[in-house]
Amino acid sequence: MQQRKKSKVSLVGAGPGSEDLITVRGLRVLQSADVILYDALVSTKLLSQVNDSILKIYVGKRCSQHSFTQDDINMLIVENAFKYGHVVRLKGGDPFVFGRAHEEIEYVESFGIPVSIVPGISSALSVPASQGIPMTRRGVSSSFWVMTATKRDGSFSEDLKYASQSSATMVILMGVRKLQEITDEVCKYRGSEIPVAVIQNGTLKNESCTIATLGTIDTCSNNIDISKPGIIVIGNVVAEHPSFFEEEVQRVLHSSL
Ligand SMILES: C[S@@+](CC[C@H](N)C(=O)[O-])C[C@H]1O[C@@H](n2cnc3c(N)ncnc32)[C@H](O)[C@@H]1O
Repeated sequence: MQQRKKSKVSLVGAGPGSEDLITVRGLRVLQSADVILYDALVSTKLLSQVNDSILKIYVGKRCSQHSFTQDDINMLIVENAFKYGHVVRLKGGDPFVFGRAHEEIEYVESFGIPVSIVPGISSALSVPASQGIPMTRRGVSSSFWVMTATKRDGSFSEDLKYASQSSATMVILMGVRKLQEITDEVCKYRGSEIPVAVIQNGTLKNESCTIATLGTIDTCSNNIDISKPGIIVIGNVVAEHPSFFEEEVQRVLHSSL
């Protein structure tokens, strides 16, 4: 008689987008899954590297037909662990960066199911890096803040104000829809000359990067698709981007015509 598989859950970071930016351990654990529950920002190319016999269930919150709530996801993890054995919960970037990982861990553990974590490469650092934008640079920036700009009720977080008053590199996730309000707010403290980058589809073939300053970003709205997630980087390190000075020269020339 076949023995029932032991239920367990692995929370695995898929990396920022490109299928080869998962860790070696992450891929190994993925390939040992009985079922994979994956998010919207997980690469389909990565999933295609996994054996066809492994069940793959989309549980993203970004879907036109059905959007899964966090409660739905928690329950699906537990149901599938009891039914199939090893569930890999595959999450974009690193599970512990704006990933609601703790809610999933607490729920799953309350059923006596063990959970292990495989860290991933967060988009917060790797997406700017893929554009040649460093987080720190000697003499330019000695720290960085990774944050969301707004609270649940849509108002600006205190952290946005505190970070704006520092000289830290600011890395803002989930902020593209409010780009103008965010840059206007930061501009009050840092001034209009500070460079800003907006990167979308980071590390993928269709990656796009818009470079401007806090004072000129409003003229770039045509380059940014606000329906797509992206990362906003604010700080002098953005001037390290290979096209920063060229784009600024073009803007100055155009504005003087
Ligand atoms: C819910 S947070 C999850 C972050 C994830 N845990 C991580 O460590 O990268 C999703 C946000 O991450 C950012 N993001 C994730 N992948 C991205 C990518 N490939 N390009 C640009 N932004 C990305 C966007 O700001 C998006 O709204």
